[in-house]
Amino acid sequence: MSDWPSHGGRPEQLLPRFGLAGGSEIIDFSANLNPLGPPPWLAQRLAASVTELATYPDPDYREAREAIACNEGLPAEQVRLTNGGAEAIFLAAALLARQGVTQATIVQPTFGEYGRACRHYGIAVEPLALTGERFMLDEARAAEAMCDTGALFLCRPNNPTGTLIERERIERLLVAGQRHGATLVVDEAFVDFVTPDERLTPLLARFDNLLLLRSMTKLYAIPGLRLGHLLGSAAAVGHIGELQPPWSVNALAAGLVAPLLADRDYLARTRAWLDAERPWLQGELEALGLNVVPSHANFLLFRNARLRDDRGGPMPALLEHLARCGILARHTHNFIGLEGAWLRVAVRSRPENQALVEAIARWSAP
Ligand SMILES: Cc1ncc(COP(=O)(O)O)c(C=O)c1O
Repeated sequence: MSDWPSHGGRPEQLLPRFGLAGGSEIIDFSANLNPLGPPPWLAQRLAASVTELATYPDPDYREAREAIACNEGLPAEQVRLTNGGAEAIFLAAALLARQGVTQATIVQPTFGEYGRACRHYGIAVEPLALTGERFMLDEARAAEAMCDTGALFLCRPNNPTGTLIERERIERLLVAGQRHGATLVVDEAFVDFVTPDERLTPLLARFDNLLLLRSMTKLYAIPGLRLGHLLGSAAAVGHIGELQPPWSVNALAAGLVAPLLADRDYLARTRAWLDAERPWLQGELEALGLNVVPSHANFLLFRNARLRDDRGGPMPALLEHLARCGILARHTHNFIGLEGAWLRVAVRSRPENQALVEAIARWSAP
């Protein structure tokens, strides 16, 4: 295992590697959070809700689940509120283990927590590599691996590539899984950033072998508060309820679910920002000679197009150069199949994106 930090968003863990002070002023492109920040009303609402800390939350989180169910067009029985997407991942693995699954396939490169969750519950992990510079899924191999092992984890849009496996391919995987009693777990942590709306919720009406994992911390920029949910068949969600620790989500976070989902203006502003900024940043990075993977999410993965194998070379050097310019990018040392040869950056505000582009331009200049 590499000694690089396993997640983004922790400058104090990365900067000392380069002899920089952990508390240095930094623009953080390493965590994929909405740069609009939390909705403006949130701080006041949290402050006003502090008295709720004196009582236990509703163990069924009925109000929050109904708000999610209404937003998704599902019955509340198919919704479980979780302590971030991270808890949803661990609950999915716990359910698979409970169902007797001993092996799972994970489509790589991807978020490292699927593997950790599986191993935690005694499930052996088989990697399945996305192929080529555009990170395509070999559908036939995926279907075979899913049915052989009993479960397949994939992330859509995928962290760190930003790629989105087409809905028709997902449907075909689900049909194959149904025939062989295999489960498809799809992490949709970044689906709120995808336009037009690509969420797979409607498939839950036809496929009881589908689990959808969601995060609310990315879109609403509240990773410290922790909110997510899990969607599945009523039976699967019922079993997951038995596996989840009681009161896993605190009352303040749970009380925010309905007002967050009701804030359509925030969602519209987010989409307008991303629709403008992602193509702009991608174009600027390409103009600097970088190979950028076309993304459906709020982040971009890139490498040096001029070099076929820059493993251990230019990308780690660029990471260090950026850190010295006060910019934190996400290294890829612990993504299987990338191993440091790529960098990932969040899409941020125009002035911040401009600062990133200028810093890279200074590095690539002779
Ligand atoms: C793909 C993916 N899923 C889930 C999570 C966990 O998010 P949360 O903060 O909601 O636990 C992350 C966090 O980076 C992620 O990248």
